[in-house]
Parts: sequence; structure tokens; C-alpha cells
Amino acid sequence: MEKKPLISGAEAKRLAAKYGTPLYVYRQSVVAETYRRLRAAIPYPKTRIYYACKANANAKLLATLRRAGACIETVSPGEVALALRAGFPPSRISFTCSNLSEKELLAVAKKGVRMHLDSLNQVRRIGAAFPGSSIFVRINTGLGAGHHSHVITGGPESKFGIYHTDIPELLRIVREYGLTVAGLEQHIGSNILDARAFVRAMRNLLESAKRFPDLEAIDFGGGLGIPYRPEEKPLDVRALGARVSAAFAKFCKAYGRELELAIEPGRYLVAEAGALLAEVTDRKETTAHSFVGVDTGFNHLVRPMMYGSYHHIFNLTNPRGKKESVTVAGNICESGDIFAKHRALPAPRIGDLLLFADAGAYGYVMGSDYNQRPRPREIVLD
Ligand SMILES: Cc1ncc(COP(=O)(O)O)c(C=O)c1O
Repeated sequence: MEKKPLISGAEAKRLAAKYGTPLYVYRQSVVAETYRRLRAAIPYPKTRIYYACKANANAKLLATLRRAGACIETVSPGEVALALRAGFPPSRISFTCSNLSEKELLAVAKKGVRMHLDSLNQVRRIGAAFPGSSIFVRINTGLGAGHHSHVITGGPESKFGIYHTDIPELLRIVREYGLTVAGLEQHIGSNILDARAFVRAMRNLLESAKRFPDLEAIDFGGGLGIPYRPEEKPLDVRALGARVSAAFAKFCKAYGRELELAIEPGRYLVAEAGALLAEVTDRKETTAHSFVGVDTGFNHLVRPMMYGSYHHIFNLTNPRGKKESVTVAGNICESGDIFAKHRALPAPRIGDLLLFADAGAYGYVMGSDYNQRPRPREIVLD
């Protein structure tokens, strides 16, 4: 599918003149519309969408999602604090974190948020501190998926969740402390474009769910992907929503109770709503590359360097220029600071404004001030 830039050339010039570059640009309306589309795609009425705020923690975007009706998924005590500051009540916040210290675990428990306990030890600690309470647990059913090994969060290689073979021991600990397992959660990986992987993992978790008689909710995690490459097909969320709803309704009927269906998408809700605007600062030729240097680097958008990810690049100020095969490199002092190799772009000239598309998820939040270069400013449009 042909990609369209998030902002026009004229808008890019205006924003660059006003705020400088590099600049993260978001469109609130795209986030709101994407949320609405996803919610409408899931006919099961008792559904909750927990936005995984690790993908983008911008306060205005959080407010947009809260107003649209979203709940919020957090993965650290800092994110819980952020969610509370953004006005989400504890009853609409979930929390999932591996390898927490006991002190952190108990501090989060006192906030009254829904905690997806990630290990038998987390269950023991909560059991000892709050005997007789209701808990949620994260299960690793043995299945994972995702765009890179670093983001596959299910299966035997993954550090996350209580491995399914430990369920008997989990049930023993639950009895020991008089706990009730009121919910299950899983998250198998990120940027899944094949709905079948999601549905397969869902069925696996539903199989495990039969062993827990007191459930109120089941959370199937996030991972919904977006098409970063023009040739990739977007996830058919309507078809996925229909399949998930039907499978869940069938499960609930057999289970004997209508449970809450939860999902935790991060990327899907924000990736396409954001882009990174940068200026071309230099050109250089070697026998291997025609380099285009820009005033940003992997400290601002790490996905290409970290996962080999593709981000579409627009030359907003010379869109009709003759196409050249160029290698777009950042300004960080590392040779791996490359955004794209041998990419056909309309002739980038010094001073042109380039837009790195689909940078709304895992962009700014994964940034750093490496090389003592501060993180870019973020601007929210509409
Ligand atoms: C526990 C949990 N839930 C949800 C998400 C959101 O994932 P995504 O942005 O791929 O939807 C993540 C991200 O890895 C996660 O770790």
C-alpha cells in the first residue's frame, strides 16, 4: 500500500522553523481514530483495551486515549505513576513486570492496580503480604511470535510469565495462601501481522484457563502489528476481532460465565500517528555508499539499529526529485548509526527535511542522550 506522509512539506517547513529539528510529530486524531477502529472491530461487549504505554508515553496522547475510553497497561513502577498522573484510575490500570524487587512489587500492589504476576515468587510474595486476595497471573503457554527475537515474549526462550508446566505448583501456592486467581494474561510478542499467530496463542491460553475456576477476565496481550514496509499488508483487525470475539464467547459459554476480554496493544494504537522529522546536514560518497547525513541518530530512533527495522523515509522538501540510491546515516559517533541502506529516495540535498514514518511507537520512549545529544522535542498536532 502506498504510504502517505503524516505531514506535508509546507507543514514540515513551518514546524522546523518554529521548533527546530530533529522533532517528533504526532497526530492526536490518528490515535483517536485508530482506537475507535480497533474497539469497533471487537464485537464482544465486555471488552477492555489496555493501551501499553511503553510504546509512547506522551501526556497528550495518553489523554486522548483516556478520553476515547482506553484503559492502560504499564510495565514498571514509573509507568504506574505516569498512568495515575495521566488521570487513569487504578481500576483501569494493569501492570506486568518481570524481575521486580519485593519492595517494588509491594509498592505497586498498594496502588490497587491490576497486577499480572509474572513468576511463582511474585505470587508467593503477594500471598504472604495479602493472604486471601485475588490475583492475576501472566502465563507463558510455550508459544511466541514477533518481528525480532528480542521481542518474542512467549515460548521456552522467553523470561516472561509463569511457564505452563509450572501451573500445578502455581495452584499449590494459590491454595497455600488462600488466593483466588481472578485473571490470566499473556503477551506473546510484538508486531504480529499474521492474525493466525494471535488466535493460536489465544486458544492456547483458553486451554490453560480451564484449570482456573474463578476467572473474571482474560488478557491476551498486545503485539498487533502495523505495515512498516509499503508492500506489507495491514492486519485485518475486523477479521481478527470477529474471530477473537467468537472464540471467547464460545469459551465463556462452556466456562459458565461471561468474562472480561482484555487486550494490551501498544504499537498498533500509536505507531502510525507519529514521525520523526530531521534535516539533511551532509552528503558524502564512498565506493560503497552515497551517504546522506541527518541531524538525528539512533539515540532518537533506535529501531533500525536495534532490530534492523524498516522505517519509510519521505523527502518532504524535494518529493519530485530524481530518485537516488542512498544510505541515510545519523550524527552519532558509531558506524552502526544507519537508518536505511541503499534506499531509493528523491535526491536528498543539504537542508532538505526528511520524515521517518511510523515512529510513533518505540521511538521517543527508547531514546537517550547518548553522545550528550538531548532527546528531540515532541509536538502533538490537531
Ligand atoms: C506485557 C506487554 N503488554 C503489551 C505490550 C505491547 O506490545 P505491542 O506494542 O507490540 O502491542 C508489551 C510490549 O512488548 C508488553 O511487554
